[in-house]
Amino acid sequence: MKVLIHEDRAEAVNHAADLIAARLRSRPETVLGLATGGTMEAVYTRLIDAHRAGRVSFADARSFNLDEYVGLAPDHACSYWRYMREQLFDHVDFPVGATMLPRGDAPDPEAEAAAYEQAILDAGDIGFQLLGLGKNGHIGFNEPTSSLCSLTRIKTLTRSTRDANARFFDDPEQVPRLAITMGIGTILRAGEVVLLAYGDDKADAAAAMIEGPVSAVCPASALQMHRKATVILDGAAASRLK
Ligand code: F6R
Repeated sequence: MKVLIHEDRAEAVNHAADLIAARLRSRPETVLGLATGGTMEAVYTRLIDAHRAGRVSFADARSFNLDEYVGLAPDHACSYWRYMREQLFDHVDFPVGATMLPRGDAPDPEAEAAAYEQAILDAGDIGFQLLGLGKNGHIGFNEPTSSLCSLTRIKTLTRSTRDANARFFDDPEQVPRLAITMGIGTILRAGEVVLLAYGDDKADAAAAMIEGPVSAVCPASALQMHRKATVILDGAAASRLK
């Protein structure tokens, strides 16, 4: 695991975005794995700027998002599909149909999860996976105690994750209790993984991910077993490393 610390949050964000842009320039047909959440908003803004400046194109790429809330249709204001359209897809040149998320409103969520895993396999697996970090150490919605071999499936969100994500909903009680998420095993199959985390509230999880034992108690610690994982932190998120 390569750990890169930038004192400045903006530099950490720019570094992550620049790695994606460089990957797309060297391998335009990359299958990207994408994340949502507050951390990624600035990354996607930087990528949109790079696209407008002619420095990056998504025209030959494809993408699979990590996760989606069970019960939310793609056009729901708080769905991750809507987030991705607003934060990235509507502003860059992905071909129509090249961007995938699990359907939160699928009539059979378990079958949807299995079909999503199969679609990732059929695409030859993720080439470049972007990850954020939950305060509780989750990646995707693989909450603590998730199997380190898990594949795309339904997960029950913990109280801490629902609390953390309540800021995106009008009423905290509207935060769904279930999500479809790529598994830790799915993520570990990606050719390259870049995790970005910043802010003091990620410091404990970052320390457990990097310096703790590989354990389902901190799902992100599984990245210690990945051959090409890069963790980018700002000074605050790195503040509890030894
Ligand atoms: C989102 C996802 C989550 C977030 C994590 C951090 O698709 O997979 O693992 O990356 O919860 O969220 P923020 O960035 O909002 O702190």
